[in-house]
Amino acid sequence: MPGPTQRKPAHSAVPIHELLALRWSGRVFDARWHPDDIQVTALLEAARWAPSCYGDQPWRCLLFRRDADTDAWREALECLSPGNQKWAAQAPLLLLLLADTRFSERDADNRWGDYDSGAAGLSVCLQATALGLMAHQMGGFDQDLARSRFAVPERFHLMAFIAVGRQLPKARVPRALRESEAAPRQRRPLAESVHVERWGRALELAPLRPEEDRGEECAAPLGVAVLTVSDSRDESSDKSGALLVERLRQAGHRLVEKQVASDDIYQVRAVVSGWCVQPEIDVVLLSGGTGVTGRDGTPEAVTALLDKRLEGFGELFRNLSWEQIGTSSLQSRALAGVCNGRYLFCLPGSPGACSLAWDRLIRAQLDARTRPCNLAELRPRLREH
Ligand SMILES: Cc1cc2nc3c(=O)[nH]c(=O)nc-3n(C[C@H](O)[C@H](O)[C@H](O)COP(=O)(O)O)c2cc1C
Repeated sequence: MPGPTQRKPAHSAVPIHELLALRWSGRVFDARWHPDDIQVTALLEAARWAPSCYGDQPWRCLLFRRDADTDAWREALECLSPGNQKWAAQAPLLLLLLADTRFSERDADNRWGDYDSGAAGLSVCLQATALGLMAHQMGGFDQDLARSRFAVPERFHLMAFIAVGRQLPKARVPRALRESEAAPRQRRPLAESVHVERWGRALELAPLRPEEDRGEECAAPLGVAVLTVSDSRDESSDKSGALLVERLRQAGHRLVEKQVASDDIYQVRAVVSGWCVQPEIDVVLLSGGTGVTGRDGTPEAVTALLDKRLEGFGELFRNLSWEQIGTSSLQSRALAGVCNGRYLFCLPGSPGACSLAWDRLIRAQLDARTRPCNLAELRPRLREH
């Protein structure tokens, strides 16, 4: 599953690709982590395969890896504005993106050089997102200092630094940055940026994509958090979490948080109880840790938090699972309940079980149109006394 650990997905009028939705410019990097050679090469290859005018590839970059040459990395850091230095000092990788002002294959100015190197920069950011990393571009730096320090020829524009690294988990974000890191991402309405056919003619049709691509309309979209509990999986190998995210989005709900946690009941409990006090979260979906081995402890982690149990969920889930896997279904301790006015669903870790639970049970109950009744419409009444 791509994206930084703390998620602030774009709220678009219609779904956009999750790489685009999940990329965002955070400022809290894990100072103890650094990317390996394969990850760094992937970022650079992403830039290399960006489109460019005449295929001229005007982008260049200077690479600074803290683990490879701390002095050079520090020299790069010193070129940043003081405000940027404060947070970029934790980023293990800094790239300085340059743009050639002349074509390399023809004797002419390249007026698209800046544009093309911006495309290469965005490719780096998206590749970072795909690797589960955070990339943050910076125009705030001393160009003259950087040019002279790193001997950049005059014909190249110095476009932007890009800080790349792994984001710190939310619980470790320094107090001073908590508010800004959690602040919602803002965009002006499409109609203010898009003019139809001539300048000044505003866009009126909000949904631009065809009806069938739009996922289901949802009468009452809910904010959903997804937690995968696994000792062996991480964001890149978390198929069940990715499946649940895709399904909930298709149903028109919003992904608010997504994490992978190890099979540690206290860690799971800490994450879930944190989510159950977040106003924007209505539903928590957990997958994994519902079996019977020593490390399987999701029901134990969660049961202590439940105000009410929805016994029917586990009963129905095992019934459906019985149709597919027979007696093996009794090994699943899938359960659901209510915690502080939110619904919690604990599903087994396999993608098959997650899709069974979502498709046959959860989807309909989180849809306010389901008759004779559904969990979604009861959400506002869960905390009635
Ligand atoms: C060319 C460019 C220069 C930027 N310069 C800075 C900067 O100097 N400092 C900073 O904190 N963010 C900088 N940003 C990040 C933007 O503030 C950020 O992309 C914007 O607020 C949108 O937020 P998002 O990337 O999380 O969607 C820059 C972004 C770009 C593309």
